[in-house]
Amino acid sequence: MAVAPNTRPAMYERMCAAVLAGGGTLADLKEAEGLVWADPANSEDFPELVATAERLQWVQLPYAGVEPFAQHLDDKWTWTCGKGVYAPAVAETVMALLLAGFKNIHGYARSTRWSAPLGRRLTGANVTILGGGGIARCLIPLLKPFECDITIIRRSEQSFPDVNRTMTIDQMSRALPDTDILILALALTSETIGIIDAETLALLPNDAWLINVARGRHVVTSDLTKSLEDGLLGGAALDVTDPEPLPEHHPLWALPNCIVTPHIANTPEMGLDLLEPFVAENVRRFCADQNLLAVVDVSLGY
Ligand SMILES: NC(=O)c1ccc[n+]([C@@H]2O[C@H](COP(=O)([O-])OP(=O)(O)OC[C@H]3O[C@@H](n4cnc5c(N)ncnc54)[C@H](OP(=O)(O)O)[C@@H]3O)[C@@H](O)[C@H]2O)c1
Repeated sequence: MAVAPNTRPAMYERMCAAVLAGGGTLADLKEAEGLVWADPANSEDFPELVATAERLQWVQLPYAGVEPFAQHLDDKWTWTCGKGVYAPAVAETVMALLLAGFKNIHGYARSTRWSAPLGRRLTGANVTILGGGGIARCLIPLLKPFECDITIIRRSEQSFPDVNRTMTIDQMSRALPDTDILILALALTSETIGIIDAETLALLPNDAWLINVARGRHVVTSDLTKSLEDGLLGGAALDVTDPEPLPEHHPLWALPNCIVTPHIANTPEMGLDLLEPFVAENVRRFCADQNLLAVVDVSLGY
């Protein structure tokens, strides 16, 4: 197994430890059968680095979303990624954002004086989650005590456990008019870029909240900004934005009904603690010739 040599030092050490913990042996890329690419940066170096890798069969990527690697994905190797790995941290952040939004914590935190009472209850709210992957799986048990009515919308027709209903993406317009909270937790692919635009936002009730912990490009930022400015949406909590980082004077920063966090639903520290045992488990499976976790479907792009 090789760990990509351009990995930042602290991360490099943790990934080497994961390889050894999984029963693998560290090797140069030329000899390696598996490659751990743990650093989210520098994906453009990939083709040059693997040019000499003669025995490579498997590439482990660090992200849940693999779009920075989209141009490199092919059927030459098995690709695995971090889908589901960071979900426990992200699901906690979703709860923080939606409770802050519903209870107007952001409004009170920004205020410098005693202000009028605002807020609503999460208990019994209609929650729609776009995406039925790792984040949704971790989020459902956290929502359970609040007795929410939960709709999962995913690409596949497979029903999702412990929710009120599962729909496919072509049925989204049916779910939105009854949605109090729309949570984006889906993969970014050519099909899901700009999936939340003026048309979809208009289907939501005027007091609904949008929570985006997936990718900024799912949302047409100008359409969202206008909906928030015009009072057509209750609010938005965005951990991810388009563009990212959100420029300093972007109107979203100043809107009273918008919360922006700097892509911290899963911080690097939280992420590394989750990635290390995951990589160790995949190395163990690779060495034992067992099915790997989080295999990327190259044709679907996630
Ligand atoms: N903010 C952060 O720090 C952070 C951290 C981790 C992840 N993320 C983002 O969150 C995304 C989800 O993470 P995850 O771990 O839950 O990934 P995951 O397990 O791969 O789940 C991805 C979900 O996207 C759904 N999907 C894909 N294409 C779709 C389409 N056309 N229409 C509807 N649904 C579609 C999939 O549907 P099926 O179930 O039908 O296959 C799947 O349920 C990642 O791709 C990443 O971009 C952000």
